[in-house]
Order: sequence, then structure tokens, then C-alpha cells
Amino acid sequence: MPGIILLGTQWGDEGKGRVTDLLARDMDMVIRFQGGNNAGHTVVIGTEELKLHHIPSGIMYPETLCVIANGVVLNPETLIEEIDMLARKGIETKNLRISGNAHLVMPYHIVLDMAGEQNLGKSKIGTTHKGIGPVYADKAYRSGIRVQDLLDLKIFRTKLEETLKLKNAIIEKVYGLEPLNLEEIFGKYKGFVEIIGKYIIDTSFLINKYLDDGKRVLFEGAQGTLLDIDHGTYPFVTSSSTIAGGACVGSGIGPKKISEIIGVAKAYTTRVGSGPLPTEIEDSTGEYLRKKGHEYGTTTGRARRCGWLDIPVLKYSIMLNSIDKIVLTKLDVLSGLDEIKICTGYTYEGELFEDIPPHQTIMHKCQPVYKILKGWKQDITQIKDFDGLPENTRNYILEIEKLIKIPLSMISVGPERSQIITRDTELKKDILSKSKKPLLVL
Ligand code: GDP
Ligand code: IMO
Ligand code: MG
Repeated sequence: MPGIILLGTQWGDEGKGRVTDLLARDMDMVIRFQGGNNAGHTVVIGTEELKLHHIPSGIMYPETLCVIANGVVLNPETLIEEIDMLARKGIETKNLRISGNAHLVMPYHIVLDMAGEQNLGKSKIGTTHKGIGPVYADKAYRSGIRVQDLLDLKIFRTKLEETLKLKNAIIEKVYGLEPLNLEEIFGKYKGFVEIIGKYIIDTSFLINKYLDDGKRVLFEGAQGTLLDIDHGTYPFVTSSSTIAGGACVGSGIGPKKISEIIGVAKAYTTRVGSGPLPTEIEDSTGEYLRKKGHEYGTTTGRARRCGWLDIPVLKYSIMLNSIDKIVLTKLDVLSGLDEIKICTGYTYEGELFEDIPPHQTIMHKCQPVYKILKGWKQDITQIKDFDGLPENTRNYILEIEKLIKIPLSMISVGPERSQIITRDTELKKDILSKSKKPLLVL
């Protein structure tokens, strides 16, 4: 079976874009199946840095089909900006396909997201203000407007008229804000369809055909497992299913078509927005990681909270997603520290938890239990083999493997394509020797 899912095992920003770009070289199709432009996936090619919010991170390969599937919520304005940004860099988007069943982010979703957050005050979620919660809420409430509605502007207008009445009542009467103008929104979206209309199809048939023909399909997750609407640190989560099961729902395939599930884990932990982060480091070491790892949001520019690697979080992710192997990223950021901590469990009111606690209160108030390892001073960003790494770095990797009981198949030691150590011989064969396509240089 050629379906591979790649997803985040923590709270997002693990480096999924960077790993997708690496694997995409040998893929026939790369799919985004959930989330929207709250995602920010970075791909670094030479000195060029691309930040993708909507378009799958396989777009650098002109022969790879890039699909925005039904589970995604689409902001056409951001998508068009992204298409233009890529065109300026000489990257074509003719291989893009968009599901007609994906839901549209509308201007009122963004207003309601911001107003809702403001209303929550200190209890806010810390959303990306991209309208994600309100658009998924409308989808579940069955009052959403879908991408395919753009292909019948009469229907689109009718739906917009009905929905906007209600949304404007909330915007004005609940939040005391200016109502939105129907004609303005209609005119804007009518303009969008002229640009993106040609990409719209029923992507579920296309994806299934690719899988049935034995082509290689990569499902690129957005956000991370702990931000999952069901299994994450609710309510401090996003509004979609970020876990492996979400790839099937969000793209219209059966679970039997998935052959492999790859988790991406940062060598430490970060989180943007509110919610529990048991291993958060609030002293100068946290600042060191933030600065060295450039831990500022790709989508919002906000400083990311930094913490030590959290093994209960990884074990939980491995369980929820049936992860086969992990790609560990940003190991180079830990260079220079005297000691490195690994959280192996939590304590709360005298009780030890080696797994994610059953009650969120415990997650908020627990104390992490750490195993302390010796750090390393050497710069590891140019090292290409596991054996070439300093002994303490190897010990850190082996200790993580021992605790999570699955292999760390690749380790990235820098943001650039070439800064990768591949330990998995199968992957090595795939990525380095048998590649069908030459590595693209921008
Ligand atoms: P994503 O949302 O999971 O795709 O991750 P982001 O792109 O939001 O954040 C990851 C950041 O780390 C990006 O700026 C990447 O360029 C960068 N990055 C990825 N892998 C590495 C690595 O191994 N080392 C360093 N120093 N940076 C990396
Ligand atoms: P990628 O794909 C990190 C976080 C927000 C907030 C919560 C809810 O780049 O890893 P939302 O706007 O989705 O309603 O916000 O989820 N969040 C992310 N954090 N990486 C992301 O995406 C995120 N997308 C949403 O910061 O805490
Ligand atoms: Mg990101």
C-alpha cells in the first residue's frame, strides 16, 4: 500500500513542512487533509525560505500533484497570495487540485474568531485569528459554504445572504462591531473563483485512483496531535482532527489504504497559544532555545513557548496515530547546553503519571519528572551520519528510542534539505539513491 501519513506528534511546528519536502521528491501526490491557513510550513532550499499555509509542501516538484482535500478549510485569498508568491519564485502551481467539498473561510469567520478570543480575555485559546474555529463550527452546524458553491454563484449568493444575516446580528448585537457588507464579500469571492476555479474537482476519486494504481501518496498533517479536537489539550486545541484517522476522513479514503505513519517530533517541545505545557522552561534556557531555534510562529510571528522533550506526549501520539517511526527535528538547537532534560512522567498530589493524565487539571498543575543527560558543545549542523555525531548526542537519541520504543528514522540537524541524518535504510534508499526526480535548486 503506498499511502504514507506524516504528522506532528506535539503541539505543531515540529518541522512537518521540511520533512514533507524531503519525502515529496519520491511522491506522486502530496495532500493536505485538515486545518487551514492556521498552518505555517517552512521549506528551506539553499538560501531560499518558503512559508506555506495552504499549499502542500510537495509543490516544489512539478510532477507531484498537490491536493487540498475535503477536510481542509480554505481561505481563497491566502491561497491566491501563496500561488502568486510561488510564481514570483518560478514555482508553478498547475499541479494543484482543490476539493469542492472543502469549506470556505469567510470574512465573518475571521471577525468572530477575533471577537470570541477578545471576549474570553485571560481564558483565550490564543488562536491564529484565521477563523478556523468558526468555520469548522459552521461545517458541523451545516451552515458552511463550500468551495463547490463558488462554481454556482447563484447558490453561493443565496447561502451567503442567509448566513450573513445571522452572523451580522452576532457581530453587531453581541460584539458591538460593524456589520459586514454582502456586496463586498460577494464581489471579492466572485473574483477569487476566476483564479482558483480551474483547480476545483472531487479530489476523493483522484486520491483513490492514485492509491489504487500503486502511486505514492503522502498525507501532510498540519498542527499536531496535542492540538487535536478530540484528543488534544481541549479547549486549547485547534478545531480539526489532526491525528492519522483524520487523514482518511479528510481525504475520502479507507484506513486500509495507509501503509505507513511517520511522526515528526522536535528534539524539545514548543507550543504557541495558551494551554498546558508541563515541560515549559521559563528561565534563560527557554530563551536560549527560542532564540537559537528561531521559535517564532510562521503564521502569526508570536514567540513560541519552549520546553524539554516530553515522553508521555510522544508515547500518547504514537498510540493515537499508530506511528511506525519518528523523524526527530532541530537536534542542532540543543547544541551548547551543559545538560539536557527528558521528561519521563509527571507527578501530581504524590501520584506518578507515566502517561498523559486522565484529567486536564493534572496536565495543568503537574510537575514533570526528568531524566538528566549530558549535553554537547559541538556544532552538529554539517554532520551526515549517526556515527559522526558526538557521543552525548548519540546517547540522547538512543535514550529517546529506548523510552518511546520505536525508531528515530531520520534526524534533522538544520533547516536546509541537506541537513538530514538518515538511519532508516529503506528511507535512505528512497530519499538518497533511488530518487526519480533530481533535487530542485531554487
Ligand atoms: P511545521 O509547521 O511543522 O512545518 O514547522 P514550522 O515550519 O512552523 O517550524 C519549524 C521551523 O524549524 C522552520 O523555521 C524550519 O525551517 C526550522 N527547522 C526545521 N528543521 C530544522 C532543524 O533540524 N534545525 C533547525 N535549526 N531548524 C529547523
Ligand atoms: P502547523 O501546521 C502550531 C494553535 C494556535 C492555538 C490553537 C488554536 O504550522 O504546525 P486555531 O487558529 O487553529 O483555532 O488555534 O492551535 N495552532 C498551531 N500551533 N502550529 C500550527 O500549525 C498551529 N495551528 C494552530 O496557536 O493555540
Ligand atoms: Mg508551523
